[in-house]
Amino acid sequence: MGSLTQISFLSHILIHLLALTLTFAQPHFLFHNCSNSVNYTIPSTFQTNLNTLLSSLSSNIDAYGFYNSSMGRDPDRASAVALCRGDVELDICRSCVTVSTSKLIQLCPNQREAIGYYDNCMLRYSNNETIFGKMAWGPGFEKWNTNNVSDEQLSKFNEVRSRLFGGLINRAASGDSRRKYATGEAQLPDSKTIYALVQCTPDLSESDCSFCLNATLERIPSCCSNRIGGAVYKPTCNIRYELDKFYNDTKDAAAPSPQLAAGPSNNEPMPNAALPPPLAAGPSNNAPPLSGMNIVIVSSIVIFVTL
Ligand SMILES: *[C@@H]1O[C@H](CO)[C@@H](O)[C@H](O)[C@H]1NC(C)=O
Ligand SMILES: *[C@@H]1O[C@H](CO)[C@@H](O)[C@H](O)[C@H]1NC(C)=O
Ligand SMILES: *[C@@H]1O[C@H](CO)[C@@H](O)[C@H](O)[C@H]1NC(C)=O
Ligand SMILES: *[C@@H]1O[C@H](CO)[C@@H](O)[C@H](O)[C@H]1NC(C)=O
Ligand SMILES: *[C@@H]1O[C@H](CO)[C@@H](O)[C@H](O)[C@H]1NC(C)=O
Ligand SMILES: *[C@@H]1O[C@H](CO)[C@@H](O)[C@H](O)[C@H]1NC(C)=O
Ligand SMILES: *[C@@H]1O[C@H](CO)[C@@H](O)[C@H](O)[C@H]1NC(C)=O
Repeated sequence: MGSLTQISFLSHILIHLLALTLTFAQPHFLFHNCSNSVNYTIPSTFQTNLNTLLSSLSSNIDAYGFYNSSMGRDPDRASAVALCRGDVELDICRSCVTVSTSKLIQLCPNQREAIGYYDNCMLRYSNNETIFGKMAWGPGFEKWNTNNVSDEQLSKFNEVRSRLFGGLINRAASGDSRRKYATGEAQLPDSKTIYALVQCTPDLSESDCSFCLNATLERIPSCCSNRIGGAVYKPTCNIRYELDKFYNDTKDAAAPSPQLAAGPSNNEPMPNAALPPPLAAGPSNNAPPLSGMNIVIVSSIVIFVTL
């Protein structure tokens, strides 16, 4: 290749990478639910309380990516909970909560109860303080990768996945009142690696967190049994697994929570030769892929390096 051609090719790749990075920076909205049975009028005291509370969330989010608070008195009290995925940097977490706030107000313009999930954060509000410190089972959703594990590997895959999740659930549940989060990986027989993440809102007790995550794990056979990736999201806990490393374990390792078995290793995931497959979701069906951008960026870097 001539040097001019090479430079133009290089800048083409760089622009491509930049575009990917920008796309990656946009949070993906996954799911929302508004409760249509409890509405508020506009204007009202509840609306003022809710708006004041929501506008204070992002700046009050702590270094662990969690905040819960109430504003006003019954029956006009507004209560809210915001939780970022445990590996998300604080500034990204704050902007995710800010974006969620306006998104939910737009989608649920007069509902007293709403929940919204981005891939990086969850926001939930209600006029009932019962959203604090108690396990909640709904509304939630499930997602799965449309690619399947081969029949020959399925029983071993399920065994490795169950064992990995079991260890992570113990670790996350025994976290403190600031953080209940764990990630880990395990080797599959075909020399692939399975990566998993579990998280509870840290206001849950150890046993409620364990109960919530166990119940979430029990959903896996019906949503994601033979899928190479899957996730179950509930208001107070969520779990997810993939064949690519979809979380940042630098933050996990740096976090004050103790590292036990199934801790992160430094192995980089193998870049996939093929493009990531589309993901399906239920009950919402217009959700974007959970992961995939990571793989694309890794592949682009590989192309770049091998020039
Ligand atoms: C609450 O508001 C929503 C839309 O804003 C509407 O669909 C629903 O019927 C209302 N519910 C009640 C009980 O008025
Ligand atoms: C909050 O929820 C509890 C249990 O569902 C209910 O008994 C209580 O009346 C609710 N309070 C308000 C202010 O809505
Ligand atoms: C939204 O939440 C309500 C109350 O939990 C539930 O009845 C409804 O099915 C949910 N809708 C979706 C799409 O999940
Ligand atoms: C994957 O498995 C599901 C459920 O068993 C099945 O419905 C689907 O057709 C399979 N997909 C492929 C591509 O084999
Ligand atoms: C928010 O959660 C923490 C536990 O992480 C709890 O100590 C605190 O009381 C909660 N705040 C409210 C308003 O319930
Ligand atoms: C969750 O499941 C594990 C493993 O089956 C079990 O040891 C634990 O007691 C369960 N937690 C709760 C709260 O039931
Ligand atoms: C991963 O976490 C580390 C340490 O917190 C941070 O420096 C790095 O920028 C993070 N990477 C991504 C892709 O978020």
